[in-house]
Amino acid sequence: MEDKIKKARDAIAKAYKIIVFTGAGISKESGVPTFREAGGLWEEFKAEDFATPEAFSRRPKEVWEWYRFRRDLARKVEPNPGHYAVARLEDARSDFMVATQNIDNLHTRAGSRNVIELHGNIMHSYCMKCGLLADESEAELPGEVPVCPREGCGGVMRPKVVWFGEQLDPDDLDRSYMFASEADCCLVIGTSGFVYPAAQIPFLAKRNDACVIEINPEPSGITQIADYFLQGPAAQITPQLLEENKYADGAD
Ligand code: OAD
Repeated sequence: MEDKIKKARDAIAKAYKIIVFTGAGISKESGVPTFREAGGLWEEFKAEDFATPEAFSRRPKEVWEWYRFRRDLARKVEPNPGHYAVARLEDARSDFMVATQNIDNLHTRAGSRNVIELHGNIMHSYCMKCGLLADESEAELPGEVPVCPREGCGGVMRPKVVWFGEQLDPDDLDRSYMFASEADCCLVIGTSGFVYPAAQIPFLAKRNDACVIEINPEPSGITQIADYFLQGPAAQITPQLLEENKYADGAD
């Protein structure tokens, strides 16, 4: 393992353009549950009851309750050493992107700057009628099913997350696909790699001959294309991999 980590570290040191693709596993040690594992969210809650447009039009109050519960949790937890290590790597790099499937805001809180949140951000809401955006990192909008605060609008607010059956933001998807297609290193952390179109990202990087490095305690849908599969928890392996990476862009 030590040797594999060293080789992966060298590949990162030599890379000019790095994309980090993350999923729920990177936040697990912060205390945010994953989806598909035993004890994950989709074991206890059915996605079709809480994470589809149909569920929201049928039971908006219950869907809001669920997202408020998850929002409260996301506010209470802290980024872990995995998030911080990714943010510090960006500090040393000029051509760097984090494309995350997570909605928990933890990459940004850890200090990452160029972050694409492919599935949205649980702290934000928007009006389904006029599109007004509300940032609720500080205070919740009032009401069990909040209405748009813009005078005279009266539209229903919804969480700014992508539900099953919905399209990802086309600009976000284009930007992350483009970046991945030009990257020479792709670090994949804590995702099952089963949810598309996001999971295409490492494959696009691989097509560009990028070195694909994966951190996960279990093999995933990405492992088959990984040059280095670093098996273990993100909060432990990511700093181990990145902390000693003090090289500047593309250094030999
Ligand atoms: P999943 O729950 O599908 O997968 C979590 C992954 O994290 C698995 O591969 C685990 O092995 C791995 N894992 C567990 N503990 C870990 C740790 N300590 N360190 C690193 N990895 C660990 O979550 P995602 O792949 O993120 O979408 O799921 C993708 C999307 O499916 C989510 O964004 C969400 C969900 O439905 C929407 O809601 C649209």
